[in-house]
Amino acid sequence: MNRKAKITGIGHYVPPTVITNLDLEKRMNTTDEWIRARSGIEERHYAEAGVGTSDLAVKAAQLAIADAGIDKDDIDFIIAATISPDHYFPGIGVIVQAKLELPTIGALDVRNQCSGFIYALAAADSFISSGMYKNILIVAAEIQSANLDYSDDGRDLAVLFGDGAGAVVVERNDSNDGSGILSTHLYSDGRYVPMLWMEKPSPKDRPIFSEETLKSGGFFPQMQGKHVFKNASEKMPEAVRAALEQNNLTIEDVDHLIPHQANDRISLMVAHNLKIPVEKVIRNIARFGNTTAASIPIAMDEAIKSNRIKKGDLIMLTAFGSGYTWASAALRY
Ligand code: UT7
Repeated sequence: MNRKAKITGIGHYVPPTVITNLDLEKRMNTTDEWIRARSGIEERHYAEAGVGTSDLAVKAAQLAIADAGIDKDDIDFIIAATISPDHYFPGIGVIVQAKLELPTIGALDVRNQCSGFIYALAAADSFISSGMYKNILIVAAEIQSANLDYSDDGRDLAVLFGDGAGAVVVERNDSNDGSGILSTHLYSDGRYVPMLWMEKPSPKDRPIFSEETLKSGGFFPQMQGKHVFKNASEKMPEAVRAALEQNNLTIEDVDHLIPHQANDRISLMVAHNLKIPVEKVIRNIARFGNTTAASIPIAMDEAIKSNRIKKGDLIMLTAFGSGYTWASAALRY
C-alpha cells in the first residue's frame, strides 16, 4: 500500500513587533553595518512579554490546518519542535493540543534545535508510512528574544536571532501522483555540544539556580561562531548529497533549496558548495533573522503562498544546528 506522507497545509506566524538593526544599536554595542555585512540580517520580530512559544505555534498551526482544509479533530498526532519551550517541562506539544482543543491525541516534542523541523518531518513520515497515523500536525516555534546576551560577550549571537513559528499538516497521500516526502537524512555529532548550547539551568548543579551560575553567563545561549559557521557550511551540503544519491537525482533536478537560515553567508556558502544557482535558494533571513526550528517552514510558507513553489517542484530542505545535528529532506510538492 502506498503510504507516502505529504505536506498538505502550511502556515507561519511572527509576532508584530519588528526590531531593526538600528533598534539593536540602541541597546547594545553593535552596528547595522556589521550585522548586514556579517549575516545579511536587517530586522527580526520579537514577541512581547507574556506571549509564549506555544502561542506563536498555535497561530501558525491554525493557518496550516485551514490551509490543509481538514477538520482539526481529524489530526491524530502532534509533533512540536522548539528550543524555547514555555516551561522547562512539559514541552509545548501538549500546550498546543490543549489550546487548539484537539482530542486527547499524542504529542511529541523534539529537541533538535535548528534541525528540529526536519527531524519532526522525518518522524511524521515514519509514523504515516508505518500506518500508525494519518494526519500529523507539526509545529516549529521559537521565542529567542527573551534570553539573549546583549553584552559584548554575547553580541555575535544576540544579533542573529528572531522569534516566529511555522506549522505544517502532513497527511497520508493515497494518490499515486508522486508527490510527498521522498527521503529524510538525520545526523548528529555530540562531541560538539559546547560549540552552541545553553548550558544552564542544569540539574547537575545544586541548587539549579544560584547567584554563581547566574553570573557565569551559562543561562545565555553561547556559540563558537566560526566553528559553527564552518561545520554548517560543510554538513548541510553533505546531507543534501545523501538525499540526491538516495533518490537518484542530481543537483540540477532540485527546483528549490530551503536551508535553515542562521546567517545568509552560510546559505550562500551552501549554494556555492552544492553548485546550485543562488536563485533557487529560498532566503528571507533579512526580514526574520534566525528563527531556529521555525526558519524552514516560515521560508517554505512564503515561497508557496507567493507561487514561487509550484505543484510538482522538487524541494530540498537542509538544516544544521546545536548538538551538532544536521539533516536533509527531499520533497516533491
Ligand atoms: O542557528 C544556529 C547556528 N548558528 C550559526 O550558524 C551562526 C554561525 N556563525 C556566524 O554566523 C558567525 O560566526 C557570526 C555572524 C556569529 C560572527 O561572524 P564572524 O565573522 O565569525 O565574526 P567574529 O565572531 O570573528 O567577530 C569579528 C569581530 C570581533 O571583533 P575583533 O576581535 O575583530 O575586534 C567581534 O568582537 O566582530 C566583533 N563582533 C561584533 N561587532 C559588532 C562580534 N559580534 C559583533 C556585533 N556587532 N554584534
